[in-house]
Amino acid sequence: MQQVYRRLAPNAPETSHGIAMRTVDGGWEKHRRLANRALLPPKAVNAFTDDMNAYAKVLVNGLASESTKGAIDIRKPLNDYTFSVILKIAFGTRGESVPEIADAVRTLFNVARTHFLLPSAALDWEKDPLLRDLHEKLQSIRRFSMDMLKERREMMKRCEVLPRDFATAIFTARDEKDGEMLMEEDVLTDSIDIMAAGTDTTASLLTFALYELAKPENKMLQMQLYKEITDTIATADLQYDTSGSMRLMTAVLKETARLYPPAPINGRAATEDFEFHGVHIPRGASVVILNEPIHRNSAHYAHPNMYFPYHFIDQNINKARHPFAWIPFGAGGRSCVGQRISMMEAKVALAHLIRAFEIELASHRNGRKLETEAGFTIAAVEPVEIVFKARK
Ligand code: HEM
Repeated sequence: MQQVYRRLAPNAPETSHGIAMRTVDGGWEKHRRLANRALLPPKAVNAFTDDMNAYAKVLVNGLASESTKGAIDIRKPLNDYTFSVILKIAFGTRGESVPEIADAVRTLFNVARTHFLLPSAALDWEKDPLLRDLHEKLQSIRRFSMDMLKERREMMKRCEVLPRDFATAIFTARDEKDGEMLMEEDVLTDSIDIMAAGTDTTASLLTFALYELAKPENKMLQMQLYKEITDTIATADLQYDTSGSMRLMTAVLKETARLYPPAPINGRAATEDFEFHGVHIPRGASVVILNEPIHRNSAHYAHPNMYFPYHFIDQNINKARHPFAWIPFGAGGRSCVGQRISMMEAKVALAHLIRAFEIELASHRNGRKLETEAGFTIAAVEPVEIVFKARK
């Protein structure tokens, strides 16, 4: 990813590429402070809720017209939804209005998937056709972003209201500690970073939530969720304030992230020597934390391998559970900055989908377990086919 950013923003300092790849020495804290302000407060999440609802309606309409032909593989429609939402959040842009940017960002995701585990020395930007294609497309992202920032600078001079998106938020903010603003190159890479981190992850969460809800054994759960949705918002859009009261919806998403953590691993560097169950971890070692075994530990969950959202309904049990027994978004100061955005985005999609359709797994699955693959995210490696029946 660092190499990608270097090609995207060649003039940025070596240490300053994106947020997730940045070290404390490379100015992570400052970038994170700005990203926190732009993405974490409820007010910030609220600002994007209308767009989420609008794109969820596009998703529902698309599925309604496709559903007449039979079961639908939901992976692409859900990925289109999360991509549209994140492009709007990052750059205030509708994907369909700048197709070459949408194409460029998709190429970036595809290369991230195929090249994610390769050491950087193995990346041949001259010979590898995928990387050459990516390099060209990165230039169009760069041109688009730089033009957009130039336009925003002009709008600021004319005292016009700027679009409310992540790029504006970090472009116009002064850091509370040093009072400085970010370089344009950094606005570009930080915005790309939230797109890279926020598309496949939320799509993965939604894919597995629908897969579970569509199983025959979860029919009653789906009915209860439908009831919660219609009791809470009837035919209205879902707003951030209301979403907090939807306990079953929250539990469904938390349980999905428990069994299918969209980001399968978290990483840390040991800041001091320590012993862990008799193993010596030296200072500076990279520690990889696998989420799934933690999430399926019977010490923390009554039914560790079963899809059982009620694990998260009882507040007393939730409070008593070890704070690191559920870590799909990581933990501490370095935890996912987009966690509120993604949970809201997933709730909005589920509210619209379950209100509009009764869903069932395609009968030919016949109870066969879905094959998944853990890479950059956990993904289904075969079609996730669901029948969408419009509710009367
Ligand atoms: C279901 C959806 C998502 C999951 C499961 C997820 C998971 C994670 C995890 C596990 C981390 C590393 C945390 C750690 O090391 O403690 C992370 C970091 C990050 N996520 Fe997410 N994420 C999701 C959605 C999003 C969205 C929607 C955005 C942007 C709006 C986003 C932006 C980021 C960024 C920028 C980082 C790096 C933070 C840093 O290094 O300070 N993520 N995410």
